[in-house]
Amino acid sequence: LSIVTVSALAQDFPSKPITFVVPFAAGGPTDTVARQLAESMRKHLNNVAIVVDNASGAGGTIGANKVARATPDGHTLLVWHIGMASTPALYRKLPFKPLDDFEYLGIINDVPMTLVGKPQLPANTYRDFENYIRANQGKLNLGHAGLGSASHICGLMWQYAVKLDKSMATVAYRGTAPAMNDLIAGTIDVMCDQTTNTTQQIEAGRIKAFAVTTAKPLADHPLLKHYPTLQEMGLRDFNLTIWHGLYAPKGTPAPVLQKLNEALRAALRDPEFVQKQKALGAIVPAANDRRVTPEGHKAFVANEINKLKAVIDAAGQYAD
Ligand code: MLT
Repeated sequence: LSIVTVSALAQDFPSKPITFVVPFAAGGPTDTVARQLAESMRKHLNNVAIVVDNASGAGGTIGANKVARATPDGHTLLVWHIGMASTPALYRKLPFKPLDDFEYLGIINDVPMTLVGKPQLPANTYRDFENYIRANQGKLNLGHAGLGSASHICGLMWQYAVKLDKSMATVAYRGTAPAMNDLIAGTIDVMCDQTTNTTQQIEAGRIKAFAVTTAKPLADHPLLKHYPTLQEMGLRDFNLTIWHGLYAPKGTPAPVLQKLNEALRAALRDPEFVQKQKALGAIVPAANDRRVTPEGHKAFVANEINKLKAVIDAAGQYAD
């Protein structure tokens, strides 16, 4: 494309509705983040319609690959979390290369996780919870959203840390929205899920919560501040926060990428978006957080790929 047409392209961008591909089922944490972000970003993109396409399966890698192969014109984007960094260590034949097949548009948020149980679970504290698991070896199951999902990685790390029940069965779903329905119904017993999905259920008493996965207590959150961290419960060094990023296919023209990054950064300063995320326990990066720049976002993910590989290798014997 000559310089003239590229800048003309940016002027015309967006020239049609934008699609946010969410690689998990509707109604789950990733979907919630994507829809709230779309509502805010579109205000800075001539009020363009932004539609969400829930392309789920294989721990999010099917949806991610759909975007890696999409037309690089800025109208098809990916909202994905740590899966971009965890899947290289878990999928021998990953159909895309995280650091080569995407343009990095910036980090959207950081989200704590909560260890939660079905409402009938006879435990009210984390200690009771561990004792119940110890007393019911091989009888309980943990739900997650597929290999490499946040709930899978958290389950892996937690089981490796507590070494309580190596035979705990795991049940894979197309996202933690359907998994949450089964937890509420008591079909599954345990889950580690993001606060964007659990806060309202805990508040409504539909599930039980036992601990949070962050290094520090969630002191700012009116509900989540009441739960201990896993470190306080004796799981030394346990520290897991989920992050979400926004991506375009490799080769999307630079002026289009710049417009999208600017719209993302405007959303990160949108009080409505920030407040909605805060209510769900999620934290939006500060304006000076390097990860809101494409270079900073990519460097962060490259580091996370190495970090998660070490975690997964160590906990490997607990992989599905
Ligand atoms: C996960 O566990 O990776 C997410 O909760 C999946 C989802 O957004 O449903």
